Amino acid sequence: MSPLASLFRSSIGRKFLMAITGVILVGFALGHLVGNLQIFQHPDKINGYAQFLHQTGGLIWAVRIVLLASVVIHVWAATVLTLENRRARGGSYGAGKHWIKASLASRYIRWTGYVVLAFIVYHLLHFTLGVTDPSDFKANHAYVMHDDYAVAGFPVVAAGTEVDNVYLMVYRGFEHAGVSIFYIIAVGLLSFHMLHGIDSLFQTIGWRSTTWATCLRKIVAIVCILYFLGNLAIPGAILTGALKAHPAAQVHVTAAAK
Ligand code: HEM
Repeated sequence: MSPLASLFRSSIGRKFLMAITGVILVGFALGHLVGNLQIFQHPDKINGYAQFLHQTGGLIWAVRIVLLASVVIHVWAATVLTLENRRARGGSYGAGKHWIKASLASRYIRWTGYVVLAFIVYHLLHFTLGVTDPSDFKANHAYVMHDDYAVAGFPVVAAGTEVDNVYLMVYRGFEHAGVSIFYIIAVGLLSFHMLHGIDSLFQTIGWRSTTWATCLRKIVAIVCILYFLGNLAIPGAILTGALKAHPAAQVHVTAAAK
């Protein structure tokens, strides 16, 4: 059997696949949050950033394909491993306290996983495809860049370029209490999912019992809490009115009405 095939066919291989795809997805989630936090700056920032990502063409599609494949493999491996565990537990007799602990933890991560999956589908329909956006915001609202948007000092989107008004799309989206509350609950569950997932990852690579793993897990817990707070800040600030829509974003909302 080739090494790749054995990754998919053996139980330990599937655990590694879960771990690798989990790391890819966590990396994306953290990077995405850093990008999204630009909403607290001038609209040029998040709008220029979104335009830059769309301009990368082939690269953005490569990233999308890797992300999609990671989600599919992650969910597939999780399902197969859960079924295997269930069968194994059915066979084992009188495992006692350990059995109950493992079963609770795995049930927990599975349900948070389902909600996160549903959230991602909704989120893509909302912001990427604009399907669940009643105002068809993305298609109708343009934004003209005030300044150049630069990456590592290199201007990548020039001042005067007409781009999607991602700033106002996000702002308008989160003005709806139902939308914001769903996002907050979903990112809360995602943060829990990441916390438990990373714990299992340490188990997979055999670090769970070492002393420094305890310290590492505390760091992971802090990162997950910060991740949640960062994600909470965006809908939270918009919904409570703590973040007022920047006037520069409002000026250019009516491209479709011109
Ligand atoms: C407050 C939280 C969030 C905000 C404000 C936000 C915002 C956005 C926006 C504006 C887009 C569309 C970008 C564009 O097409 O121009 C987007 C795409 C996306 N978001 Fe989020 N997002 C949030 C949380 C999340 C979370 C928690 C996840 C999942 C881990 C996620 C996963 C994605 C994915 C997979 C895409 C598609 C990227 C692509 O087009 O290739 N987002 N997000």
